[in-house]
Amino acid sequence: MIQIAPSHPLLQMQITFRVMQTDDLTQAWQLSKDLAWPHRLEDWEQMLSLGNGAVATTPEGSVIGTILWWMWGPQTACLGMIIVSPAWQGHGIGKQLMTLARQALPGFRLHLNATSAGVPLYEKTGFRSTGVVAQHQGNVSTVPLIPLPEGYRMRPMGTADLNAICAMDAAALKMDRSALIEHLMDDGRGIVVDSEKGIQGFSFCRKFGWGHVAGPVIATDSIFALPMLAYWAGTCAGQFLRVDIPQDETLATLLDQWGLLRVSSVVSMTTEPTENTDTLSDSPSCFALCSQALG
Ligand SMILES: CC(C)(COP(=O)(O)OP(=O)(O)OC[C@H]1O[C@@H](n2cnc3c(N)ncnc32)[C@H](O)[C@@H]1OP(=O)(O)O)[C@@H](O)C(=O)NCCC(=O)NCCS
Repeated sequence: MIQIAPSHPLLQMQITFRVMQTDDLTQAWQLSKDLAWPHRLEDWEQMLSLGNGAVATTPEGSVIGTILWWMWGPQTACLGMIIVSPAWQGHGIGKQLMTLARQALPGFRLHLNATSAGVPLYEKTGFRSTGVVAQHQGNVSTVPLIPLPEGYRMRPMGTADLNAICAMDAAALKMDRSALIEHLMDDGRGIVVDSEKGIQGFSFCRKFGWGHVAGPVIATDSIFALPMLAYWAGTCAGQFLRVDIPQDETLATLLDQWGLLRVSSVVSMTTEPTENTDTLSDSPSCFALCSQALG
């Protein structure tokens, strides 16, 4: 059981807050389905297996609120899947779930991608906006081929690449997602772009929601990221594919041309006080997220 102040008004309403268990996932999944979010039960299971969560429940045991968080390294975490059942919204449950997550992550820098419904709650709990993530999806209509520059090749990822791609991911996102990368190596397909100079980019494609998702896509330059995304689009020709991208008009236009239309967007938010300005110009960047929740 998670401790909350005995005087908290939600306790008067007999709302209980506790650690999320795998037994809660069917009800949690129902909450996301009610919002028309695409997650499968397997997606919830994978997300919880990689992190931790809390639920709010009624006296009858119904799950009416959820939150998940993932510790990506000793000081950085992502939050996601923050949902309060519509009938229970506006009573402080979302705020309490955020408080509990933050208590479990003392001193951590926190990141999340917020829907428009979530932004006011996060602003009130110390987050600030850092950018926009566009959600592109649809049935891939054409199979584009974007060649790599001479001297570079695309190849399947192997276990021997693990350390290099974890280091590249950490350099791009300033967090240690090694556990996530290892999971993706088992759960999805991975490719890398390399040359004699070493790995210049990597990406994954896996089953998620209504079809597949391509991401994360991490690379030192878009000349490596775009061919990888085109490769995944080609392998998913005629099928449903989703890609979540940080704001990038060139990439957005390409995705639109491939039948992956922008259907919505979320706001990236962080508790970090200021932008980290020590990014080197040749350090890798994130061209597509793993998912809105996992970052
Ligand atoms: C976002 C969500 C979790 C908020 O949960 P909630 O239990 O209704 O929020 P709370 O009652 O705890 O509100 C917390 C604070 O945010 C404010 N707030 C919440 N929703 C708001 C809105 N739409 N507009 C303005 N303020 C809002 C409240 O006024 C409150 O501030 P206060 O304590 O100063 O009065 C809930 O609306 C939800 O599940 N939405 C659908 C799913 C979703 O989009 N989740 C966010 C994913 S990132």
